Amino acid sequence: MPKRYLVTSGLPYSNGRPHVGHVAGALLPADTYTRYLRACGHDAIYVCGSDDNGVAIEIRALQDGRTPQQISTHYHERQKEDLEGLGICFDIYGGTHQPAYRERHERFSRAFFTRIHEKGFFSKRKTRQLYDPQAARFLPDRYVKGICHHCGDHETNGDQCERTGAIIDPLLLKDPISVITGTPAEVRETTHWYLRLNDFEQPLKEWLESKQGQWRPSVLNFALGQIKQGLPERAMTRDIEWGIPVPLDDPDAQGKVLFVWFDAPIGYVSFTAALCAERDADESGYERWWCDPETQIVNFIGEDNTVFHTLIWPAMCMADERFQLASHVVANNFVNFRLGDDTDKVSKSRTPNESPVWIEEYLKRFDPDALRYYLTAIAPETARTAFDPDDFVARINNELVAAFGNFVNRALTFAARYFEGRVPDRAGLTDVDREQRTRAEQAFERVGRNIEGFRFRAAVEELMAFARDCNLYFGNRQPWATRKTDLADCAATIATCIDSIAALALLCSPFMPATTERIFDQLNATDRQVGWRMPESLPSGHVLGTPKILFEKLEEGALR
Ligand code: 2FM
Repeated sequence: MPKRYLVTSGLPYSNGRPHVGHVAGALLPADTYTRYLRACGHDAIYVCGSDDNGVAIEIRALQDGRTPQQISTHYHERQKEDLEGLGICFDIYGGTHQPAYRERHERFSRAFFTRIHEKGFFSKRKTRQLYDPQAARFLPDRYVKGICHHCGDHETNGDQCERTGAIIDPLLLKDPISVITGTPAEVRETTHWYLRLNDFEQPLKEWLESKQGQWRPSVLNFALGQIKQGLPERAMTRDIEWGIPVPLDDPDAQGKVLFVWFDAPIGYVSFTAALCAERDADESGYERWWCDPETQIVNFIGEDNTVFHTLIWPAMCMADERFQLASHVVANNFVNFRLGDDTDKVSKSRTPNESPVWIEEYLKRFDPDALRYYLTAIAPETARTAFDPDDFVARINNELVAAFGNFVNRALTFAARYFEGRVPDRAGLTDVDREQRTRAEQAFERVGRNIEGFRFRAAVEELMAFARDCNLYFGNRQPWATRKTDLADCAATIATCIDSIAALALLCSPFMPATTERIFDQLNATDRQVGWRMPESLPSGHVLGTPKILFEKLEEGALR
């Protein structure tokens, strides 16, 4: 039965170019999943956009001597271009502070804050906060750095422990330093509105426990562990200029904005409304996606976003009482960058500008599908993994070129040369050929089951296992010999190969959509079936397209 799915990826901050880590963690698996849902015939939309408010953008603007609006618009555009270049196919890529989305996003965020406020889930409190006397401003979140009070041995930002994702209390950081002036921070008094997360501990626990056996254990253990320790109140307002003004008629709210993590997940909703407005001239269509329990909401995120998607955003939704909670939160670990024996974080300061870890740089020289394939093959589903340029070249050459591409090219070249570029007759089909067809049918089942279980890495392994089976089949059937001894047998072999190629084209469509198109062109197949199953055979006599190399072989060291 077709179902309705709303798929989201954590909104990237618009303060830098996207790199392989962003793509592997939250964006590519969401795109793969949505493409699969559509191939199955489900009604699915994929919503994302840039996270434009808050401290991360202000800091980048300060560093670059530009305004936060200039910074966020610049990077919003670049993100969109790079991600689309990689075949990430959003239904909408909004931006929380971009001209086309800002008014609606602010309206939704203000209304959300006001409803929670009216229901009494905020505590207004005077609090002590770190302050930079030289810059004459408070230092929320990433404006301050210091030694983590959880681990005690490494420097971290003032919002989350960079190693474990645990929430930081900036007042407990050791040796806190302002990132604006580099001088020691001092403590001053201010007022903020705190979301009483502890009011939601029980319903959050019940909700998370209902996901046992479905979600990745690491995600559930982390979230349930936080509840066990007790959820502290979290300030949902900030003393900065860039963001959405706090919508309260209260002198203490003057000059304050909503915490970026309060308005960012509301972006999922406001961008859905923008999409409905674009498509049907009626933004209220978003309610069908957000308020109807029939919709499955699936959030793809990086590991550092777990606390917000499993605790804070769900608590906000519980307080607001209008939106469905996620059916699934799929959190991936980070992807580091490995060169030789060194493994490190991908970061602006340490990774050269022209390195292909930056999507923009990669796309200048290489095939988008090769990166999609590699990042799925090393997907950080249960632990951090590393993007290794040498391993990339080896896997593309050994897997995509030598197994997948080689089979497709061998079979289609054979049909071009010996069957006048047409699908040969199937009259001579044998049990061996029928077994090959069964393997293709099983591949649909295996790849599909793994995608539905959010095991993308295993899914792509099944795809490649089938490509290897195809090569073996071709080798065992020896059409180059039967061409001379038993033409009917040779024809059945090549017709079966063409069926397998059509199966490969569909099977790889969630992972490598451009490859699907290239194969369909070479098959000269225009009708695309809906449904995740072995495609109907092209009829005997169908005129095929021109065979072309599917994947380019890479030189050793090509990505270094
Ligand atoms: O960690 C980040 O990059 C955040 N900008 C993610 C926000 S996800 C959301 F909820 F919008």
